[in-house]
Amino acid sequence: MWCPEGLDEVEAELLGPSEELKDRDVLEIGAGAAQCSRWLVAQGARPVALDLSHRQLQHALRIGGPFPLVCADAAALPFADGSFDLACSAYGALPFVADPRLVLREVRRVLRPGGRFVFSVTHPIRWAFPDEPGPEGLSVSASYFDRTPYVEQDDEGLAVYVEHHRTLGDRVRDVVTSGFRLVDLIEPEWPDWNTSEWGGWSPLRGHLIPGTAIFVCERD
Ligand SMILES: C[S@@+](CC[C@H](N)C(=O)[O-])C[C@H]1O[C@@H](n2cnc3c(N)ncnc32)[C@H](O)[C@@H]1O
Repeated sequence: MWCPEGLDEVEAELLGPSEELKDRDVLEIGAGAAQCSRWLVAQGARPVALDLSHRQLQHALRIGGPFPLVCADAAALPFADGSFDLACSAYGALPFVADPRLVLREVRRVLRPGGRFVFSVTHPIRWAFPDEPGPEGLSVSASYFDRTPYVEQDDEGLAVYVEHHRTLGDRVRDVVTSGFRLVDLIEPEWPDWNTSEWGGWSPLRGHLIPGTAIFVCERD
């Protein structure tokens, strides 16, 4: 699943035709509980699930799966050049690093020539709206151009959650200047069958403004 809208890889085939995933080496970035890797292994691929959070990887370990889990920063990948055919990320790592080009360059380095990286992030337009699923989430409340990160702190003032904003132009520029070709940029529409609300995502908002941007990138 790429996003709360419900677009899944069976339908979208953004990593390529499902039948061609067999025996492919795939790196999942910001894997969380590694649900994408679990799906990939079922297609016959050889995924590696990477996340910075030990706690997230403990969830992945508890759920199980016959693939390696790697605890590392996506901006410093512990793999040799050209180790993977494909890389993917569903809302992992990229929104949470100050300079996503560091991640993109690392992913490019570990991909083989012709390799593809597909990643989804919150659609940049959402930055300008309150993160609310109801009508209050439909009025612009902040500048789309304000790149000041969103930070939550604990009682001692330590940052416990940080999300960085990139405009759509920033994201395209990040991809291209990191040595990728942008093959497609998908803004999934909210499907009628999806009646669920999740955080700031809802059918009400989903029918009016995009919630997710999915970048399909290839290296030469
Ligand atoms: C919103 S969750 C998405 C998890 C999973 N892909 C999913 O679809 O449920 C973002 C994940 O990115 C991970 N992450 C954040 N910064 C990272 C970094 N610099 N390197 C690797 N993983 C990172 C977080 O630990 C978290 O598991």
